[in-house]
Amino acid sequence: MKPLVVYYSLTGKTKLVAQVIAEALNATLVEIKETKPRKLGAFVYLFGGLAATINRGSKINPIDVDLKQHETIFIGSPIWNSRPAPAINSFIYKTNFEGRSIIPFFTMGGDNSEKALANITAKIERSQGKVAGSFAITSYRVSDEEIIARAKEAIKNY
Ligand SMILES: Cc1cc2nc3c(=O)[nH]c(=O)nc-3n(C[C@H](O)[C@H](O)[C@H](O)COP(=O)(O)O)c2cc1C
Repeated sequence: MKPLVVYYSLTGKTKLVAQVIAEALNATLVEIKETKPRKLGAFVYLFGGLAATINRGSKINPIDVDLKQHETIFIGSPIWNSRPAPAINSFIYKTNFEGRSIIPFFTMGGDNSEKALANITAKIERSQGKVAGSFAITSYRVSDEEIIARAKEAIKNY
């Protein structure tokens, strides 16, 4: 069974990692997009950050994927205020992951993904999924080439 890689990315870093995973594992790659794309700037930090803090979802476009075809699902998100981004919350809230192994992965400005991992794990479990691994990659002041190299290293474990 092909793995599935589902991700949300505002500035392209999580997308880079998702693409590496999809290529390495010959996985199906699906991007989650918000119905109203965010413009970069202070409002993202204010409203996006706040929404993440209070575990809100956001309106996302429907995705065309049959989860029954995928036993392993990688879920990628940037870390926003130590939590997953709202678009990823929406995907998790809407989905029943029963019988699926989920591997959340993050990109982040800092270097601590503990809180975000605990948060997303609780949400995945509430949607009947089992977390079977995870990783996080720092993007701040890291070149795209280096992010790709770190992602290739991380995916060797799967
Ligand atoms: C609203 C907002 C909140 C953020 N909060 C955190 C945070 O709490 N911890 C952290 O390490 N990085 C934080 N970041 C940085 C992003 O996680 C980081 O830049 C990430 O790689 C962006 O991924 P993307 O390019 O896929 O959107 C935040 C970024 C935004 C826009």
